[in-house]
Amino acid sequence: MRLVLGTTRTILRPFEFADCTELHEIFGDPATHTIGDGPFTSPEQTRHWIHRRIDSRERSGLLWYAVRDSATGLLLGDCGLFAGRTGADEPEIGYEIRRSHQGRGFASEVARAVLQEAAACGVPRVWATIRPKNTASIRVAAKAGFTRHHLGGDDRGQLVYLVSPRFAGSARGRRAGAAPE
Ligand SMILES: CC(C)(COP(=O)(O)OP(=O)(O)OC[C@H]1O[C@@H](n2cnc3c(N)ncnc32)[C@H](O)[C@@H]1OP(=O)(O)O)[C@@H](O)C(=O)NCCC(=O)NCCS
Repeated sequence: MRLVLGTTRTILRPFEFADCTELHEIFGDPATHTIGDGPFTSPEQTRHWIHRRIDSRERSGLLWYAVRDSATGLLLGDCGLFAGRTGADEPEIGYEIRRSHQGRGFASEVARAVLQEAAACGVPRVWATIRPKNTASIRVAAKAGFTRHHLGGDDRGQLVYLVSPRFAGSARGRRAGAAPE
């Protein structure tokens, strides 16, 4: 995947440790970081999260981007691909937007860009696994072209599995770590 992506209003770059303080503003917000085990209580947890993303990039070529406002440079959120529940060959997408900037179409804008990048890199298709009550996230996925596939679950409850269309050209088997042609 390319290291830098752009959308109309944002610029996406892989996370670095320098992003930790700003990212912790988002991950420490109980109204926003509702996924996983909930809000992070210490910057060290956020730093560890960035470390895991760097590690994932080195192992699988899958990138998780810091999403910044291209006009102001403010960290708006994060969006990327990870092996997650469905594996590195057909990874999951994830996204999160700073509370003050939700409801302005940012998640939809960046999810589309990440999905396009996945297609360009030869990923056959992408999954999203979302709690049924997370209507905003399900709507973001639907607007990006995902459709409901099946209902699953884990120890925290039910999960809706949604899947993107199968991308044309993916049979060539290019790896996510390779640069798009
Ligand atoms: C989910 C999330 C990323 C959406 O970000 P966002 O930038 O506000 O999303 P958008 O502005 O692109 O809105 C997308 C759609 O969701 C709808 N939406 C937003 N909040 C909603 C809500 N609480 N209930 C129902 N729909 C909602 C919007 O109306 C929009 O649909 P529309 O264009 O048809 O009107 C954001 O709410 C968030 O960060 N949540 C916490 C983290 C999270 O749950 N991530 C996903 C994990 S699976």
